[in-house]
Amino acid sequence: MSVTLQINGVQHQLEVSEDTPLLWVLRDHIELTGTKFGCGIAMCGACTIHLDGQPVRSCSMPVAAAVGRQITTIEGLASNAAARAVQDAWDELQVPQCGYCQSGQIMSATALLSENSSPDDAAIDAAMSGNICRCATYPRIRSAIKSASEKLS
Ligand code: FES
Ligand code: FES
Repeated sequence: MSVTLQINGVQHQLEVSEDTPLLWVLRDHIELTGTKFGCGIAMCGACTIHLDGQPVRSCSMPVAAAVGRQITTIEGLASNAAARAVQDAWDELQVPQCGYCQSGQIMSATALLSENSSPDDAAIDAAMSGNICRCATYPRIRSAIKSASEKLS
């Protein structure tokens, strides 16, 4: 089918099967490879993107479900104040280890701080619990979210 997608503020038209996971459209058709494949079954969070500002797992979302909605990937976060605060904090606190999960972590953290600029520990846990890090950078992720929160407020 022919689909039109709005990705990072740019319209893309492509021919693709309607049940193709959005992740593969982003990576293979649009060449936005910042979004990663981890588990493929919505269990790890590596493929997290924003759909109308909400974090979703792109590995388990058919492309047809994203038509008519605003898709944002890690490459499109530059204009978002919460994202800038998150990325600065990630840099200052040197959060990543291997880095593989971090795109998804940053997308989830940005969505959290965009809705709640002063999250408590429970809110952080609720927002980030679906993002797995094999390198166990969780303490630095939590510290970076708190640091970004302080800068935003
Ligand atoms: S690759 Fe999508 S949640 Fe793991
Ligand atoms: S930094 Fe390696 S998996 Fe998270």
